[in-house]
Amino acid sequence: MSGFSRIFSSTVFTWLAVWSVVVASDRRDMPLRTLAADRFLIGAAINVPQAEGRDAVAMNLISRHFNTVTPENILKWEKVHPEPERYDFGPVDRLLEVTESQGILLIGHTLVWHQQTPRWVFKSASGEPMDRDALLERLRAHITAVVGRYKGRIGGWDVVNEAFEDDGTVRKTPWSQIIGEDFIAKAFEFAHQADPDAELYYNDYNLWKPAKRDAAARLVRQLLDRGVPVDGIGEQGHWLINDPPLDLIEAAIVPFGKLGVKVVITELDVDPLPRPRELMGADLSKRPELRQSLDPYREGLPDAVQQELAQRYGDIFRLFVKHADKIARVTFWAVTDANTWLNNFPFRGRTNHPMLWDREGKPKPAFDAVIKALSGK
Ligand code: G3I
Repeated sequence: MSGFSRIFSSTVFTWLAVWSVVVASDRRDMPLRTLAADRFLIGAAINVPQAEGRDAVAMNLISRHFNTVTPENILKWEKVHPEPERYDFGPVDRLLEVTESQGILLIGHTLVWHQQTPRWVFKSASGEPMDRDALLERLRAHITAVVGRYKGRIGGWDVVNEAFEDDGTVRKTPWSQIIGEDFIAKAFEFAHQADPDAELYYNDYNLWKPAKRDAAARLVRQLLDRGVPVDGIGEQGHWLINDPPLDLIEAAIVPFGKLGVKVVITELDVDPLPRPRELMGADLSKRPELRQSLDPYREGLPDAVQQELAQRYGDIFRLFVKHADKIARVTFWAVTDANTWLNNFPFRGRTNHPMLWDREGKPKPAFDAVIKALSGK
């Protein structure tokens, strides 16, 4: 290379480096929702203190970065409908006032689940087990009351949550055992009747596991073939820092796009703590004893792991950008490390660090990695 070329290329290189730092730092000041605009909505789960204005750090981040939120717990059956004749809509009503005033879209989570559903749901007034017709009627009444109340205000619903085991078989729950496997189709029909304009999703974790992914894809195809209204598949992104491999995550996005339904990433977090492989996903029935070796970052995440987490988030978001024609929304399952469910799963009382912001609400390298990926880098 001639001296001129060398000087020229090194000058160009220096300018490019300076420029990319300038652009990156400019972009760091941009809301995630602005950078994701034209691709997908970007959201977070919101908990009660946040919804009630008692967590200013998280609420400021929500207002700035997200255009959709999903209440983490207050629309689950045990919260919104704790007794046969009693609904508790207050917390959701108050949350909607806040989100609507800020132009933030609320997503409903969740109508039918085997967790967080009171025992009385499956028993008659005299304490007898329900039969199929009676339980279907109870399900219809619940969905009609909850979805109907928020008709036109809640934009989409996780209608059925976690109906499959990881091997693709239908999970044995009171729903599937009393009603039969068509409890899923019935729930979608009831929800559609209650609000024909709301988007309706089937939502599950570990869909990167081929057997479970294929079962969910079969379900969606059957529902569509029978004319049951299903708009999308909710892929809970409860992933680890090193697992599952990116190609398996990608393989769980593509088939749903081909079926013509939206892919929504409903519960994204990336767990950097060690986890025994059998505890992948979000099976709340598995709660082994906490061992110290499984809680190694109580004093903070070491730099090397911060970088690894950033790399993983960057890879994941580059994949989302690549498949933005199929992905309609990406929702993180918390705002900061202070309020993630992963501080208590699969072991209670861990100090976890899976989000883009640390416990004080300061952006982590993972935040910069997401900014870069959304900026096409
Ligand atoms: O509200 C009670 C409170 O009154 C009581 O004092 C306190 C004592 O433990 O418990 C509170 O309830 C807790 C609830 O969150 C609200 O904070 C439950 O114990 C706790 O088990 C519950 O955990 C939630 C979990 O679902 C079970 O519903 C997590 O916050 C929530 O992040 C998690 O979310 C699930 C999705 O819905 C479905 N996919 C998996 C995901 C992670 O498990």
